[in-house]
Amino acid sequence: MNRLSNKVAIITGAAQGVGLATVKMFLKEGAFVVGTDINYEKLDENMKKLGEEHLIWFKHDVSSEDDWKRIVDATIERFGKLDVLVNNAGFIVGKNVMEESLEEWNKVMSVSATGAFLGIKTCSSVMGTEGHSSIVNISSGAGLVGGPRTGNDAAYNTAKGGERLLTKHSAHALASKRIRVNSIHPGSIMTDMLKAYLEMDPNCMESSKPFCPLYPHYSEPEDIANAIIFLASDESKTITGAELAVDNGLASY
Ligand SMILES: NC(=O)c1ccc[n+]([C@@H]2O[C@H](COP(=O)([O-])OP(=O)(O)OC[C@H]3O[C@@H](n4cnc5c(N)ncnc54)[C@H](O)[C@@H]3O)[C@@H](O)[C@H]2O)c1
Repeated sequence: MNRLSNKVAIITGAAQGVGLATVKMFLKEGAFVVGTDINYEKLDENMKKLGEEHLIWFKHDVSSEDDWKRIVDATIERFGKLDVLVNNAGFIVGKNVMEESLEEWNKVMSVSATGAFLGIKTCSSVMGTEGHSSIVNISSGAGLVGGPRTGNDAAYNTAKGGERLLTKHSAHALASKRIRVNSIHPGSIMTDMLKAYLEMDPNCMESSKPFCPLYPHYSEPEDIANAIIFLASDESKTITGAELAVDNGLASY
């Protein structure tokens, strides 16, 4: 408890899955939370259920610079500061380089690559410089290795790999402001994203098993949220530019 006491955090993709679990666990650890998502209906429904006074939420398209400015302004207006950004929103199509259309490519890139870039750029301009600020980018095993076991999506592999190196670039660029930047690389997580993907490729879990030493071969959203809490908190105060695989060993091959 209280590992994030008095920290103000923006969490994107908060309507469901990893983002929703992270909002809940950040609140339990004493944070003030701004939850955002493009799916406002679901966000509003799930945030209201939490009945928390230290929580506000907004509709937010992470690929829109104007939206980011609006969210950051609202955060400062309500909570007076910003310490943590969790770039969690994500989108996958599941088509390889020969199948994916330019429109699909641009959509996937706009969420994970452009969204993370805009988030880092906008939020770092207002974050504190006393050594308590942290940015956590939720990349993927698809940002470490290619092939069917990581989503089989050309743009997703590219965007998540880009997010990994954007993390390392930003860790250096923001070190003088004492803002830390790290990435998390989940394997399979049992969320709506994976369930939808399993409908397109029912064998995907089965085919990743030989590469995934640790049973049950997938994580729960809370497993990722635990790693996010560590990287967001001052417990990781000397860690920046690092990549943390939370993947049952998937990317270790
Ligand atoms: N589920 C997995 O197996 C898995 C594996 C590796 C990495 N990841 C990554 O973890 C993160 C969370 O994934 P999840 O499984 O909870 O997915 P999810 O689909 O359950 O949730 C993603 C959320 O992002 C939101 N979103 C999509 N586009 C957006 C946009 N333009 N602006 C704002 N919000 C937007 C969606 O509305 C949704 O609520 C994502 O970055 C994803 O790529 C997931």
